[in-house]
Amino acid sequence: MLGNATTAQRTGFFGGVYMSTVAVIGAQWGDEGKGKVVDYLAERARFVVRYQGGNNAGHTLVVNGEKTILHLVPSGILADDVTNVIGDGTVIDPWVLVGELEGLEARGAMRPPESGQLVIGRRAAIVAPYHVAMDKAREQRLGKGKIGTTGRGIGPAYEDVAARRAIRVADLLDRERLSDRLDRVLEEKNALLAWLGAETFDKDDLIERLTAVGARLKPWVDDAGKRVRQAIADDLDVVFEGAQGAMLDVVHGTYPYVTSSHTTTGGIASGSGTHPRQLKAVVGVVKAYTTRVGAGPFPTELHDSFGDSLREKGQEFGSTTGRPRRCGWLDLSQLRYAHQLNGFTSLALTKLDVLTGLESIEVCVGYSVDGERWDIIPTDSDLMERAEPITVKLAGWTEDVRDARSYEELPANAKTYIDLVQRELGVPVGLISVGPGRSETIRHQDLWATG
Ligand code: IMP
Repeated sequence: MLGNATTAQRTGFFGGVYMSTVAVIGAQWGDEGKGKVVDYLAERARFVVRYQGGNNAGHTLVVNGEKTILHLVPSGILADDVTNVIGDGTVIDPWVLVGELEGLEARGAMRPPESGQLVIGRRAAIVAPYHVAMDKAREQRLGKGKIGTTGRGIGPAYEDVAARRAIRVADLLDRERLSDRLDRVLEEKNALLAWLGAETFDKDDLIERLTAVGARLKPWVDDAGKRVRQAIADDLDVVFEGAQGAMLDVVHGTYPYVTSSHTTTGGIASGSGTHPRQLKAVVGVVKAYTTRVGAGPFPTELHDSFGDSLREKGQEFGSTTGRPRRCGWLDLSQLRYAHQLNGFTSLALTKLDVLTGLESIEVCVGYSVDGERWDIIPTDSDLMERAEPITVKLAGWTEDVRDARSYEELPANAKTYIDLVQRELGVPVGLISVGPGRSETIRHQDLWATG
């Protein structure tokens, strides 16, 4: 197997057995490097749970130089002895999931279904082909005003959850029920799709395709919430793996330029079938600079050739859509807000190596909006569009940091940068990532610590 520590090593490594739960949350607009942090935590965890989002996410793992991009499967899949749960609050494109599982099977990373390596929630909603068609058609219709979605049908699928007309995973396993569910929605979908000038769908064909893909997924389908609650009751260590980032939260993010799920810790309980008191630690994953894909306000965005060079150096191209990411300086005001929403107990600072070689580094510490000072991001997107960042300048470093394995080994100016983040947010930086590989990691403080 490609995994790392055994159960015995896990408990030994952390010196004593005590159970905990930890959430891994993107603190910016997604693409912070959460997959690597979850993979790291999976050294100790026995459960990794995805609880929101769908295959709009793209989590990249690099193990022994080999790159794996996951969209729906949780990032604990390459670790031994871990149960990976695709929870009830997610939306699942079943064909994408089958494709991902086949890729993992082909490289020997999947154990038999009875091993408990993967659980797919019965209550999770399906992203049907009409959702994907609608997402794309709506974006096209919006033209310049588009959200810049990933085009994976995520928004339309969540709309159906809220409207109580979603097809859920369990429905794929029961032909009659599926037929009934489609009767409730398909006519309306097709009318809307025809109006949008998009393709329409045939019920019998959908039934055939959905039952076939459902049969393929059936060995892993279970009551996900019950499994997670049982894991906690059994004192197993659980990681809740967030997708996207705090600023893309459907309520608290930069609305309407957001995704359609609750990306903050608030979404964990409902999305996984647990309750808020079961969450012990929260790791905010912060990239050493900021990126965003899609439209919407981004105060520290760099529109010049320097922004382009950051994109090239950081390889900032979407792992789901390949789109170039917009790049900018680190934004402490935005992070302050993310901390207020999520209650981080520690931070994981990623891609520090990308900043190596800069003469100076700017960091945003507040905004000026129409002459007024704001310490966190303004409530409305149009205010945020007008927000001018107030920045401080720090000296850069030229020393290569990729071989550093302790905080002490880092250049003095890199330490100053990290210390500023810790001090401004009042949250310790527990992990520093200095390269994409699993080993290119500085373990500074215990991410499982509850603060
Ligand atoms: P949707 O989630 O496909 O509906 O896209 C809504 C917004 O969220 C767009 O700006 C997307 O670029 C952004 N988004 C969705 N998923 C991710 C992600 O995993 N990383 C970064 N941005 C994302």
